[in-house]
Amino acid sequence: MQIDDIKEKIEKLKKDFNESIKKIDDVRSFEEVRIRFLGRKGFISELFKILPQLDNETRKESGKLINELKQEVSLSISKIQKKVSEKRKEKVKTDPTLPGYPWPVGRYHPITTVLREIKRCFRQMGFSVVRGPEVETQYYNFEALNIPKDHPAREMHDTLYLNDDMLMRTHTSPVQVRVMEKNPPPIRIISPGRCYRRDTPDATHSPVFWQVEGLCVDEGVTFSDLKGVIQSFAWMMFGKDIKIRFRPSYFPFTEPSAEYDFSCMICGGKGCRICKGTGWIEISGAGMVNPAVFKYVNYDSEKYTGYAFGMGVERIAMLLYGINDIRLFYENDVRFLNQF
Ligand code: DAH
Repeated sequence: MQIDDIKEKIEKLKKDFNESIKKIDDVRSFEEVRIRFLGRKGFISELFKILPQLDNETRKESGKLINELKQEVSLSISKIQKKVSEKRKEKVKTDPTLPGYPWPVGRYHPITTVLREIKRCFRQMGFSVVRGPEVETQYYNFEALNIPKDHPAREMHDTLYLNDDMLMRTHTSPVQVRVMEKNPPPIRIISPGRCYRRDTPDATHSPVFWQVEGLCVDEGVTFSDLKGVIQSFAWMMFGKDIKIRFRPSYFPFTEPSAEYDFSCMICGGKGCRICKGTGWIEISGAGMVNPAVFKYVNYDSEKYTGYAFGMGVERIAMLLYGINDIRLFYENDVRFLNQF
C-alpha cells in the first residue's frame, strides 16, 4: 500500500466523520458515532492496524497522518460531547416555579358530614349515640313496636326478607326496643343508621337511606321536652330563624303521635318551590312512647314516660346543601362529591 492510498483512506474517513456528526442529536446518536470512529474496533484503530504492513518510510508518514486524524476527531468528539450533555441538562432541568402535580385528597361524603353534625347537636343536649343491626327480626322491626303481623302500617315498610323472620330493617325505631331491653331508665340516645325499603329510586326516594332515631325515657318526661329538643336541634342545624310545628299523626309505637316540620330555610317561610308554597318543610315523625312498647321491654309505664322521634338524614342534607335529587348521594360521581 502506498502513501496515497493511506491519504485517500484518511480523506474518506474525514468525510464520513463530518457527515456522521451532522446527524448527532442526542446522547445515543453521539455515542454511536464516537464508538464507530474512536472505539477499540473503530475505523481509526483499524487504520493503525495497517501500519505494520507498510515499509518504513510510508509507515512513518502514515503514522503521523493517522495520529493527526485521531487528534482531530477526538477534539471534535469532545466538543460535541459537551454540547450534547448541555442540551440534555437543559431538557431535564426542573423549574421550581411550576405548579405541582394535583394530588386528589379524599373528603367526607356529604351524608357523613351531616351525620357528624347531627350527632354533635344531640351530644350537646346529653344524648349518647348507639348503633343497631341493619338485619333485624320481625320482632324488633315490627312486633315490639306495636306493629302486629296484620297491621296496615306494615304495608309502608315493604323490604327484603332474608328468611321467614329476618329482614333488612325498614327504620331505626327497632333500636329503641334493643336499648330499653338492655338498660333501665333513664335513657337518652340517638341511633343513626341505614334503612331499607322496597322503593323505586326517584328524586326523593332511595331503597337504601339513612335515619336517625331519638329516644328519651325518664320520670316526668313530657311532650314539651320533645318540642324543646326538636326546636334546639332545628336552631343548631339550620340557624336561629327556624321555627318548628307539630301536626297530629299516627305511629303504632307512639301515642300521641305527630309529624314535625321546620319553617322553610330556603324562603324563610314565605312559600317557595321547595316547600311547595306552604312555608313548611316536613322532617319526620315523633311522639310519646306508647305504653304498649314499654310492656315489651318491661318498663313501668305508670312511673316512666318518654318521647321518640325519627329523621331522614338525606332529607336534612338536601335542605342544608340545596340538593334536589337524593340519587346524587349514591352515584359516587366525584364531580358531585368534590363540592362538599
Ligand atoms: N320510624 C318511623 C318511620 O320510619 C319514623 C318515626 C316516627 C320514628 C315516629 C319515631 C317516631 O321515633 O316516634 O317512618
